[in-house]
Amino acid sequence: MSVHIGAKKGEIADKILLPGDPLRAKYIAETFLEDPKCYNEVRGMLGYTGTYKGHKISVQGTGMGMPSAAIYANELIREYDVKKLMRVGTCGAIRKDVHVRDLVLAQAAATNSAIIRKDFPNFDFPQIADFDLLTTAYDIAKEKGFNIHVGNVLSNDTFYSDDNSDVFKLGEYGVLGVEMEAAVLYYLAAKYNVQALALMTVSDHMITGEETTSEERQMTFNDMMIVGLETLIK
Ligand code: ADE
Repeated sequence: MSVHIGAKKGEIADKILLPGDPLRAKYIAETFLEDPKCYNEVRGMLGYTGTYKGHKISVQGTGMGMPSAAIYANELIREYDVKKLMRVGTCGAIRKDVHVRDLVLAQAAATNSAIIRKDFPNFDFPQIADFDLLTTAYDIAKEKGFNIHVGNVLSNDTFYSDDNSDVFKLGEYGVLGVEMEAAVLYYLAAKYNVQALALMTVSDHMITGEETTSEERQMTFNDMMIVGLETLIK
């Protein structure tokens, strides 16, 4: 086992879905995977391995925010040889042309996190998605008729803030939404030469205040899972 994951080598697939919420990991495993087996309960951060259409797939909760997500991504890549990592989560929209329940594919992720700046103080190192995963996910979502946006997101270090004016300014510069994990996932994928992609559903609108009901969230969440799973096995 690694420090935060209680699995033996070989119990985790090389393709993994990464929801922030561990109970979402349980839901995904029990709803979409055949023969799911729980391999991790350390800190309640549930992880499962099963099969989807005959392919071995894992799903691991990461917690919220980049420090937590980085712990799981580091251990999955370095200790369990995971090669394709796909975040499946939610984001808040910051543009009027992006609506609640839409899907957002993070082509790139801006961040105010110190995690990357600490390693590269002299560069604005760009956090970008794996191109193959990105185009595959986009094609699948389009083919299924889902509303999908592709572009930059902000991986924010804080959920609550006294002043969001700089975040809204990013929206004017084309940034689609705000979430809290994609940038560090892309950073670690670059560092360890593996593939990563972040796919989000829009759960709230930071400008209009538009929100989703829990039934609507569940429906779009399921749409997102299909895109995620089909992308990982392609
Ligand atoms: N995830 C969903 N909505 C969010 C928001 N408004 N800020 C950061 N992360 C989010």
